[in-house]
Amino acid sequence: MFYKTSEPHGLPHDPFKSCIVPRPIAWVTSIHPNGAINLAPFSYFNALASDPPIVMIAFTGYHQHGGEKDTLHNIKTGGEFVINMVPLALKDAMNTTTAPFDHGISELEMAGLTAEPSALVKPPRVAEAPIHLECEFFQEIVLPCTLENSINHTILGKVLGVHIRDEVLSDGLIDLDKIKPLARLGYQEYTAVDNIFKMTRPNN
Ligand SMILES: Cc1cc2nc3c(=O)[nH]c(=O)nc-3n(C[C@H](O)[C@H](O)[C@H](O)COP(=O)(O)O)c2cc1C
Repeated sequence: MFYKTSEPHGLPHDPFKSCIVPRPIAWVTSIHPNGAINLAPFSYFNALASDPPIVMIAFTGYHQHGGEKDTLHNIKTGGEFVINMVPLALKDAMNTTTAPFDHGISELEMAGLTAEPSALVKPPRVAEAPIHLECEFFQEIVLPCTLENSINHTILGKVLGVHIRDEVLSDGLIDLDKIKPLARLGYQEYTAVDNIFKMTRPNN
């Protein structure tokens, strides 16, 4: 089949997200202007550069209780955020934090997680997560939006510091078998990294 994205695809569910898989999940801690710690997952997320390390996160739609999603608002007002990696073991806690809690309610507490101070930024880390990226807001890009009463915004952030739990390092390498990072597919589907193989580039 072929469909133009400007026209109906004719399938029971939008297939777009299943065409770009798996997507890593940024589990983002940020601080609301009222001081509450916010935690939410975002799979429109990726790395864009290494030197300096730059990441992007895209926000689609409004908060269910009105206005921008808390994470987007907090990143722009506070200028800082932390990306926590989601191991398979924390999939249910991650899912709890996607609920549209009132602005200012701490999803961290609702999910039974522990806040651990960051080294360089104000938002704390999720203590239970194996890897944390401490980030500084760099730029906002407003994307087109064809839906009525919705928005698409992307933010870019500079990674200032990286925490890696010693127990997930094996001979100095991040041992993803110990983490099994969770990733998003399309529809309501997820996967976890649990099938790793090596391949070298030709002439390397
Ligand atoms: C695995 C997963 C991935 C998600 N990815 C995104 C995303 O990329 N962009 C987005 O706007 N919302 C995404 N959501 C929905 C947000 O997590 C949800 O709107 C959340 O309530 C936002 O919280 P906040 O208002 O505290 O920022 C995702 C949800 C889940 C469970």
